[in-house]
Amino acid sequence: MVMGRNVQNARRPLDGMTYWQRTFGCQMNENDAERVAGMLETAGALPVATIEEADIAVFITCCVREKAELRLMGQVASIKNVPNAHEAKRIIAVGGCIGQLESATLRESLPHVDIVFGTHNLGHLVDLIELRLSTGEPQVETIDANDGFSSDLPVHREKPWHAWVPIMTGCDNFCSYCIVPYVRGREMSRPIESIAAELAGLSSEGIREVTLLGQNVNSYGRDLYGRPRFAEVLALAGQSGVERVRFVTSHPKDLLPETIEAMAAYDTIMPQLHLPLQSGSDRILRAMNRSYTVERYLGLVRDLRRACPDISLSTDIIIGFPGETEEEFQELLQFVQACPFDRLGVFAYSEEEGTYSALHLKDDVPDEVKRRRVERIMERQKAISLDNNLRRVGRTERVVVDARQGDYYVCRTQYDSPEVDQELLIPAGGRRLRRGCFYEARITAAEEYDLYGELTERRKR
Ligand code: SAH
Ligand code: SF4
Ligand code: F3S
Repeated sequence: MVMGRNVQNARRPLDGMTYWQRTFGCQMNENDAERVAGMLETAGALPVATIEEADIAVFITCCVREKAELRLMGQVASIKNVPNAHEAKRIIAVGGCIGQLESATLRESLPHVDIVFGTHNLGHLVDLIELRLSTGEPQVETIDANDGFSSDLPVHREKPWHAWVPIMTGCDNFCSYCIVPYVRGREMSRPIESIAAELAGLSSEGIREVTLLGQNVNSYGRDLYGRPRFAEVLALAGQSGVERVRFVTSHPKDLLPETIEAMAAYDTIMPQLHLPLQSGSDRILRAMNRSYTVERYLGLVRDLRRACPDISLSTDIIIGFPGETEEEFQELLQFVQACPFDRLGVFAYSEEEGTYSALHLKDDVPDEVKRRRVERIMERQKAISLDNNLRRVGRTERVVVDARQGDYYVCRTQYDSPEVDQELLIPAGGRRLRRGCFYEARITAAEEYDLYGELTERRKR
């Protein structure tokens, strides 16, 4: 499904070409990737399943998981010159956060890359491809200033019933380890009228799930006239007619009581929150410049559970921050035991050039210790997840069907956000369920990561 303002001309610049894309990183990049797909298809290119079949390969990258990606792109070099269906060389484009941050040097390490673009000039990608085709010259273009929101660009939604709705971009928090503020720039909120208009349109288009998007959605509106608050955006979304509303990401220091109240006030706002903790030690939280204590975080969890008793919480944790001792790691283990999360994103600390901690703190936890601590925290989480899941057996939940996988349908409950791979599996058993439709299902069995269920009724809606 491709939508947008671009009028399709009789002859489009990429007619007859194929594209393949690979995306790394957070929901920002997922949203950008859907826009890239929309633009390429509006320009005439057709998606293909493998890079070997593609005339154009687009990598949307992330700086936090940079090394794995660079390795992958290095491997891509080996198929760069394998001719495609037109006996031509494949065009390789690198965008996203690494594209933005390392535009000047990327082609030195990866000379086979033809196009480098950034996070602020997604809309120029087709022009850059055209220039590459007509001149044969590599094209590198990034711009520093944020030139607005991607909502006006054409889009190919990965799940046609789900839309990302950017409400702010950038981040002003400068957590000491984090590269994002240097890549995505300063916080910029989208006017509330523009968000309201998009939400109204989405609902009438038949979009059933929406995720409000920003690096720190809780600080929405600080830079706008009248200082609208995030709770107002939530109220708008809650009443927009869209059935399932979620939002990412929340910073604990900016999560206000009125936001929690809005979450509780609307059935359409899902009982699910990603609230990054990062560390279970006050000393490390201070060194990370996170501006809250473990006690304050626990207080928020208490408030959230009081307002939304069945809320599902997930978090991010960084293991092996400079100076992390075994005792500080133990504090984290105790924390996750006392405050069980439904999901943990665990990252081993990596030094990001130019950040405060890279400049001033020594990355002194050995890799082996980091690796072992990641394993230990994941083992603990596995037991917690199994416990949480077993408690859900016997319940009936409303699920949306995401995909068919072998003999199962992969579904999500109200607790699962769209970027989660799989949650509730329903045996197909000869039935045909429709992607993007809602059904009632009873949970019949649980494992650490997956739940199994059976339908209790025919198609819901
Ligand atoms: N704005 C979001 C996302 C930031 S990046 C937020 O504030 O949570 C996503 C996650 O990557 C972070 O939550 C953090 O856990 C992890 N991360 C960021 N920089 C990192 C680094 N230098 N080393 C290891 N993990 C990092
Ligand atoms: Fe990075 Fe912190 Fe901003 Fe999140 S809040 S993007 S971790 S600086
Ligand atoms: Fe990575 Fe960029 Fe997101 S650096 S975490 S993809 S904003």
